[in-house]
Amino acid sequence: DSQGRLALEDRIRKAVLPEQGRIPMFTYTDPGVYELEIERIFGRSWLFVGHVSEVPRAGSFVTRTMGEESVIVGRGDDSVVRVFLNACRHRGMRLACEDFGEVNNWRCPYHGFTYGSKGDFLGTFMGAPFEKVAYPEGLDRGALHLVEARCEVYQGLIFATWAKRGPSLDEFLGAAKWYLDLIVGRAEMEVVGHPERWMVPTGWRLPAENFASDAYHTATAHSFLQRLQMVKGADFGRSGYHVDVGGGHGLGVGVHSDEQSYFPTELAEEYARNLDAGQLHTLSRLKNLHGNVFPNFTFLIPNFIEVEGKLVSGAMLRVWQPAGPNRTQVWSWHFVEKNAPEWWKKLGKRMYTQTFSSSGMFDQDDTENWEMQTRVSDAALYRDEELDLHYGMGMTMPTLGKDEFPGPGDVYDGKFSESAARTYYRVWRDRLLEGTR
Ligand code: FES
Ligand code: FE
Repeated sequence: DSQGRLALEDRIRKAVLPEQGRIPMFTYTDPGVYELEIERIFGRSWLFVGHVSEVPRAGSFVTRTMGEESVIVGRGDDSVVRVFLNACRHRGMRLACEDFGEVNNWRCPYHGFTYGSKGDFLGTFMGAPFEKVAYPEGLDRGALHLVEARCEVYQGLIFATWAKRGPSLDEFLGAAKWYLDLIVGRAEMEVVGHPERWMVPTGWRLPAENFASDAYHTATAHSFLQRLQMVKGADFGRSGYHVDVGGGHGLGVGVHSDEQSYFPTELAEEYARNLDAGQLHTLSRLKNLHGNVFPNFTFLIPNFIEVEGKLVSGAMLRVWQPAGPNRTQVWSWHFVEKNAPEWWKKLGKRMYTQTFSSSGMFDQDDTENWEMQTRVSDAALYRDEELDLHYGMGMTMPTLGKDEFPGPGDVYDGKFSESAARTYYRVWRDRLLEGTR
C-alpha cells in the first residue's frame, strides 16, 4: 500500500548511507525493496540481454528477461537487432516459448495473431486468422505492433531499456567501455554454446556488488587456490587496481609482475589492432579482471589457471537475474576469440567449467556466502531494526593520476577498497528514490 511505500522510501533515505560507509542489512532481503527495484531500477535502466553472436542470422532470436518481463531479442529480416516484450497484443500470450530459435514470423500459439521479424502485425489476412469474418470492420495494424524496448549495441553486447528517454547506451556505460573492450573488444569474440543458467538462494544485488567491488574476500573465501597452488602468483586480490568507474559501475584489475603477457601470442596482432596503447599495456600485465555494470551485468576475465601445463583464462559475462526477493537466476556466458588457436579454445572450456560456472570452484565458495548473508538478513531481528554493515574500506585512499594507470575512472592503487560499492549504493538509492520527495 502507498503508506507502506512512503515509510519504506523514508527508511531507505535515512538508513542507506554509503557516503558514511553504512548500508543497513534489511536492504539485502526486504521484499518491499525488491518490488521497488523491479519497478524503478529494472524498469528504467539499460540491461544486458545478449551478444550479437547469439542471433547471427535474420530471423534468429533468443528469449531473455528484463526485470521480470520475458523479452524476445531478435534479428529482423533487415538484419537489425530489436528487443520486444514477449507478449501478443491480442490477449498477452507469450509469442516465443522457446529459449532460442529461428523464425520468419512469430505466430501466437493462442489464437494465431502473427507478427513479422520487425515486430509488425502482418498485412491484411496474414496477421489474424479468419480476419475477414472475425473483423469485418478491419484492424488497426499500427496499434498491434509489438511493444518494443530501446535497444543499442556496444562491442557486440546488446542492451535494452524500457526508458523512452534518458542517456544513450554510450553515455550510460561511460568509462566502463575502456574496460569492457579488454574483455569483448580485444578481438572478434563468439559465444561458446548457450548461456548456462542456475538458481541461487540470494538476492541479485549481493553477487553484483561482489563482482563490482570485492577483491578482499578472495584470500579467505577462495583460500583453496593458495593451498592447491592453482593460480600463478596468487597474492589474493591486493596487486592491481580498484576502479570506481562512476554511474554505479565498478571493477578490479589484477596484475602480475612477470615480463610476459599470459595471453596467447597467436592473438597479439589482433589485440593490437583493436586496443589502444594503454589498454594493450594493461592486458599484457593482466592476471584477472572482474566488474559489474549497474545494476546486474557482470564481466570477468578469471584468474589464469594451469590446465595441461598451460596458463588459461578467457572472457565471461553474467547476469544476476532477479527471480524474487531471495532468489536469483544466474546467466553465464563463456566467450572465446573466434581466431584463437585450438589449444586456447579447448583448454578454455575446461577453465570455464572449473572456475566460474554452475560447477565452478569459485561459485561454490561465493554462493555459500551469499546464501548465508541472505539467511541472516532475513531473520526477524533485522527486518524492522537497523543493523549497519561496514562499507568503509578505503575511504581515505587517494586516487591515482593518469601517469600511474592509463584507464579512466577513479583508480586506486591496490584492490582493497570499497569505493565502487559505495558509489553503487549511492546510485542504487538515488534510483529507488527518484521522483520521491
Ligand atoms: Fe495471441 Fe490471442 S493471445 S492471438
Ligand atoms: Fe568470489
